[in-house]
Amino acid sequence: MSDSLTKFHVSPGGALCGRIRVPGDKSISHRSIMLGSLADGVTRVSGFLEGEDSLATLSAFRAMGVEIDGPHDGRVVIHGVGRKGLKAPAQPLDLGNSGTSMRLLAGLLAGQGLDLVLTGDASLSGRPMRRVTEPLAQMGARVEARDAGTAPLHIRPVETLHGIDFQLPVASAQVKSCVLLAGLYADGETCVTESAPTRDHTERMLQGFGYEVRRTGNRICLRGGGRLRACDIDVPADISSAAFFLVGASIAPDSDLVLEHVGMNPTRDGVINILRLMGADIEVSKERNAGGEPVADLRVRHAPLHGIRIPEDQVPLAIDEFPALFVAAACAEGETVLTGAEELRVKESDRIQAMADGLQTLGVDARPTPGGMIVQGGALRGGEVDSHGDHRIAMSFAMAALRADSDIRVRDCANVNTSFPGFGRLASEAGLHIVTGNG
Ligand code: S3P
Repeated sequence: MSDSLTKFHVSPGGALCGRIRVPGDKSISHRSIMLGSLADGVTRVSGFLEGEDSLATLSAFRAMGVEIDGPHDGRVVIHGVGRKGLKAPAQPLDLGNSGTSMRLLAGLLAGQGLDLVLTGDASLSGRPMRRVTEPLAQMGARVEARDAGTAPLHIRPVETLHGIDFQLPVASAQVKSCVLLAGLYADGETCVTESAPTRDHTERMLQGFGYEVRRTGNRICLRGGGRLRACDIDVPADISSAAFFLVGASIAPDSDLVLEHVGMNPTRDGVINILRLMGADIEVSKERNAGGEPVADLRVRHAPLHGIRIPEDQVPLAIDEFPALFVAAACAEGETVLTGAEELRVKESDRIQAMADGLQTLGVDARPTPGGMIVQGGALRGGEVDSHGDHRIAMSFAMAALRADSDIRVRDCANVNTSFPGFGRLASEAGLHIVTGNG
């Protein structure tokens, strides 16, 4: 794990131009390792995200006896062990900062008959896990958390799981995926009903591996006991990583940037919808399909943004992009209001508080509310802000320098490597005046 002293030092101004491809989608990279490991046969992945989070998933499956070659330049070859082929690891599985690894693995491992422990770093050990342990208990699993409902999670062997009909209490793809993955090992049918659409990569990828998943309206069902057939996976560039550049190029005068091969899954494209409502100039071209996921090239040019009331139906579709969107709001004319985003408080950091604090340091009138923020757009000054060890907070404040009147320094940026290794280099190539240093 990288150190907490890593700092971004970003000089003001600049424009983002050229053509870039941001790293692979984190959600899809995790799932490629998970399903590839449980499949019969060899799964070949390209475009895999070589970030700490997805590498934590990869190491976890290696520790459970799966032979995995790579990653080499985003290429990974997984020698699947079949649905019951995993072995108990010798040590607790350390999932670092990765909520997706912990919540999805809790489901996937609950019915394997193995005894094992899932741990994580300080941030992950403070995040809510009852949202997964409770439905798993309803299925007959024994997954024990600490009294506070947090990790470590101890998974104990059980004879069988049974299917449940589960209504998601929060709009969470991680909880949905956890229950569906446990459902692969359950008797009968497992169904999950979601109150709002959340990312559907698990459902799509299961189908790519030949597993039948049925969706009727907002209800998704599968039957346990089936097998997964290995396949090839082309991971698109992560729209959540592209988001920093979509915002950066929108707010920086003279920007004209093309982002290549970006995942455009309709459960993930809220950032484009919201930026367009604010007046952004984003052109979508070369729309195509990459292994069951839509992808496209995005051209974004500077445009004057204006404040909006963000439609609540866009919140789950842009859930990871609000740190960047708050920076867009700070540079827009007028007021932007976000509501219905309580989930932001239990991400890698409390993203409402962390962003409001940092924006206020930069002279922005940003008022946190329980479920969102009210931001008055205006001028940004420089200053030193804290990322709270949260990758998306760090990258968002780096982009804010494009419109600040003096330097922005961002503390505690090592965690950028969880989702976006090479961010500093790529952002600098595109035109951000960023230097990464220590102390
Ligand atoms: C993810 C789901 C989202 C998202 C996270 C990745 C996934 O979390 O914030 O970065 O891969 O399923 P929730 O499902 O908890 O909202």
